[in-house]
Amino acid sequence: MNVILCGFMGCGKSSLGNVLSKVIRYNFIDMDSYIERNQGMTIPQIFREYSESGFREIEYRACSELSKLNNTVIATGGGTVMSQRNVEALKLTGKIVFLRVLEPVLLERIRNDPERPLAYEKSDEEIIALYRSRLPTYRRVADITFRGGVGVISDAEKLADLLLAVGIIQR
Ligand code: S3P
Repeated sequence: MNVILCGFMGCGKSSLGNVLSKVIRYNFIDMDSYIERNQGMTIPQIFREYSESGFREIEYRACSELSKLNNTVIATGGGTVMSQRNVEALKLTGKIVFLRVLEPVLLERIRNDPERPLAYEKSDEEIIALYRSRLPTYRRVADITFRGGVGVISDAEKLADLLLAVGIIQR
């Protein structure tokens, strides 16, 4: 089984995922980095060249490919699980964890980040509206929700304990 981390931009999917993978001795893949490597382009370049809908097609291909992996922590992009076909592909071999982080923390991390086309040059209100429109989906698709915020190492250790307790990973 893979462990799939989902949640809004800035919730820490990549940094927590990376540390978690070491704690539970899994491989780690960041889906956006995987896409950038395969396309030879950055995420903002892909959005500019192919628009968001083109990016979503590439993202779906990535979900199908990454669902063939095993024992891997996969950090998705903030919009990945908004698409049902992505969720279906990822759930074939993985359990989904929603990383829930407070709104002010998300804003602080992603405001005016040029690497994030859907947050760049957006007002706080627009970003929060996008987050709130997605929240029900994050909750619905997730097998478990995890609230971090203590610090990435303690969070990774706590999440590893939770994954073990609910039987998503074995000792
Ligand atoms: C997106 C989030 C980004 C990236 C793309 C679209 C989104 O990933 O996949 O810019 O729709 O929320 P992060 O959540 O890693 O920033």
